[in-house]
Amino acid sequence: MPRTDIEWTDEFLIGIPELDHEHRALVRDINRLHRALGAHPDRTRIADTLGEILARMQAHFALEESVMKEHAYPHYGPHKAEHEVLLDTVTGYIVRFNQEPGTDVVAGLGAKLGEWIVHHILTSDKKMSLMMKG
Ligand SMILES: [Fe+2]
Repeated sequence: MPRTDIEWTDEFLIGIPELDHEHRALVRDINRLHRALGAHPDRTRIADTLGEILARMQAHFALEESVMKEHAYPHYGPHKAEHEVLLDTVTGYIVRFNQEPGTDVVAGLGAKLGEWIVHHILTSDKKMSLMMKG
């Protein structure tokens, strides 16, 4: 499996401290998933990490959505839709992981999740913070 750890850089900061803090925690959790999927994948550890990632994403997106609402952010709808796609994707993987004995099913998620989150932070979240602060 390719090494897919995400190295945190200040480029990911969007300038809203409580959201930046959570983005950093989310990146840390995703890196933990990469490690759990490593050389000797452990189903329990993978399942626990996936559960933590989903819970963190749900709580984080809810906070981000409430911040957007507070500021009457005009792109709230599409941004929330992006969150929902991410949550649905992770949930889908968890369901399949629970149904299938192998860990291959989540290996694909491990590789892609970090990319998706980083892309979302660098595009949608940055756009949001720029407009809300502007
Ligand atoms: Fe977002």
